[in-house]
Amino acid sequence: MRAFAWLLLLAGAPAWGAPVALPRSVNVTLPDSSINLPDGPGRDVVLYNCLACHSADFIAQQPLQPASVWEAEVTKMRKIMKAPVSDADAKTIVAYLAAVKGAR
Ligand code: HEC
Repeated sequence: MRAFAWLLLLAGAPAWGAPVALPRSVNVTLPDSSINLPDGPGRDVVLYNCLACHSADFIAQQPLQPASVWEAEVTKMRKIMKAPVSDADAKTIVAYLAAVKGAR
């Protein structure tokens, strides 16, 4: 019985030398995650309310536009996209956007 066990062990031996696929380490470069919105009063309110669904680039890449257009944009986010933004925060956000990305 003991000899049989040794035989089984030896029969398995060649398998021990078989190449094993070890996990490889790879390097990845993640995109820069810095938020591309200028400083200004209300920036933190924008960060809090506006980045749950998309990056700040959606905002930063818009052209300069009048406060009325920014107001319509924030209303669109609230009413159509269902962004849960309070009235007070919406005012602060429009003021920030008009200040940093405004046009007449
Ligand atoms: C509930 C999810 C959600 C939140 C929160 C949200 N957005 Fe959006 N936003 C979207 C979606 C979806 C789009 C893409 C719409 C499209 O492609 O037509 C978008 C697109 C945009 C655009 C690109 C122009 C456009 O109208 O498509 C701007 C600018 C924008 N959002 C600003 C904001 C601002 C400012 C806030 C904060 C008040 C905000 N978003 C919060 C969902 C959201």
